[in-house]
Amino acid sequence: MPELHGNLEGIKKATLTEIKALYDEQIPAETFIPYPLLEKLCGFSLSVNREIALYISRYGDILDVIIGKSDRIDLPELSLRRSAARLSMVRCVHTHPNDGGELSDVDLSALVTVQLDAMCSVGVGRNGSPTTAQCAFLNPDVHGETTLSEVVSAKSLPDAAWLRQIEDVDANYRAALPASQADIEKAVLVGIEGEDSLAELAQLSETAGAITLESILQKRDRPDPLYCVGKGKAEELALTVQTLQANLVIFDEELSGVMQRNLEELLQVKVIDRTALILDIFALRARTSEGKLQVEMAQLKYRSQRLLGQGLVLSRLAGGIGTRGPGESKLEVSRRRIRERMADLERQLRALESQRSLRRKRREKNRIPIVALVGYTNAGKSTLFNRLTGADVYVKDALFATLDNVSRPVTLPRGGRALLIDTVGFIHKLPHDLIEAFHATLEEAALADVIVVVSDGSSSYLLKHHKTVQEVLQNLGASEAPQIHALNKADLMTNGETADPDAIRISALHGDGLDALLMRIEKAVSAHMQAFRVFVPFSAYHMLNRIRKGGVIREESYRDDGVVLTVEADRTLMNSIRKEGIRILDDEII
Ligand code: GTP
Repeated sequence: MPELHGNLEGIKKATLTEIKALYDEQIPAETFIPYPLLEKLCGFSLSVNREIALYISRYGDILDVIIGKSDRIDLPELSLRRSAARLSMVRCVHTHPNDGGELSDVDLSALVTVQLDAMCSVGVGRNGSPTTAQCAFLNPDVHGETTLSEVVSAKSLPDAAWLRQIEDVDANYRAALPASQADIEKAVLVGIEGEDSLAELAQLSETAGAITLESILQKRDRPDPLYCVGKGKAEELALTVQTLQANLVIFDEELSGVMQRNLEELLQVKVIDRTALILDIFALRARTSEGKLQVEMAQLKYRSQRLLGQGLVLSRLAGGIGTRGPGESKLEVSRRRIRERMADLERQLRALESQRSLRRKRREKNRIPIVALVGYTNAGKSTLFNRLTGADVYVKDALFATLDNVSRPVTLPRGGRALLIDTVGFIHKLPHDLIEAFHATLEEAALADVIVVVSDGSSSYLLKHHKTVQEVLQNLGASEAPQIHALNKADLMTNGETADPDAIRISALHGDGLDALLMRIEKAVSAHMQAFRVFVPFSAYHMLNRIRKGGVIREESYRDDGVVLTVEADRTLMNSIRKEGIRILDDEII
């Protein structure tokens, strides 16, 4: 458990143990601070007759408990302190024993200096219960100024309003961010595998917002256990970092905790690896709550395996790439808390997963074939998806623009319907934790009836990318589903090298080759299909809708007592029609 800080002199051991238990409290997301916790805090504050401050992360963890020097609290060494252009993502709630809840000038200057999310003080009554409270926020427009709330009863804090105010201030700070040069990360890239992988790392680092100053390759069969590269090379690297004034070093290989610690000690700048970089990009991109939860899960897994390496230099150099995203306040918390948070995330993800399987079941009932677009990042999946479905999915010339599965119905040339799913892009050395965390999402693609593998036909790494995609699909257990290979960006293609001579050349951007692709999809989808004739009496009219939704109607003729349909649909639809007691007239129509 973390230690108490501040002036602990003369306080009984038993009391200190009780106060220390505050670290176990978890603040619910929609609460600024729960009243029972305020009561505890004020009770302790009265009994030690000193101020007590809680530093609460935006994720509801108590990061620091500081006991004051009777008249003022110490500013904590906030390990998560980022650049002046950002909020620290931590709020402070502290007591004013024998006083009201009004904030003092000292409190307000602490708010400004530490760039806190909010500074809140609460008065402690003679009986030790909370009296009034006041909260201050930074003024996003005028540097150094603050906005004060009314003094309110501690019993009914305006939680929602205060939390919203934090969000608003934060949004303003973020919006102003690109203007701040101080924040730009200047990176030196280091690899041991080869130029291609290093070039891709440069692209990734650019996607994450860093500038690449230099790329260094030391070809080796396996990483050195201490520095990844050889010691001599690492020392050379230290010089390069200094000369170029880089503030970030990104390794193309996965670093162990030991390597990361050694490198940070030697280089005196933040050191991250390819995995952390990819996780960081995912954190920036995740939009849906499920995507965010999955990324946080992957980040926590990654960090919990490397607690040893982080915290030394990182705590001084915090912020930016490798620390962003929902999990960032977790950098310095103990393994136990990480475990608790992971269990919590797992619960939430499971709940979402069961919703998803409900959706899937409903779809199965309607028998819409599922077609998944998969492919290397930036291959043009989302562009294709938009073209085929008329949707408006985020397209960007950046890696991993799409993180969350999006699905839309698409109409096939002969009138059939399929559900098209756009998925997260794959990449060489896709972090294992990430695949695991995104397993549920990717599984949806894996369960598709047909997989369309989209590749960037103009890329010189076409074959390599294709191989990576196949590997990931295999890992997901999706190697069985029939595949269609779409060579995209045909407008830019100069060579015709492809892994599959049957691949269809398309340009999602210009719309070329899409009809042929749709025909191919329809053909693949209909391999599961069967044509049959059925008589649906008007008394079973409800089935008509279901049949229309689930299949393609080739013919339809009305009789006095019902309708005769010639339908092309998945075999299972025929079975479920039979189960309803409806007569199939002919089940072998070609
Ligand atoms: P991730 O989200 O990273 O997985 O990417 P994605 O595969 O969904 O790629 P996206 O559709 O975002 O496209 C990436 C870039 O390629 C964008 O700049 C597109 O405009 C461009 N692009 C897509 N299709 C074509 C094409 O047929 N020709 C050309 N010239 N550019 C294309």
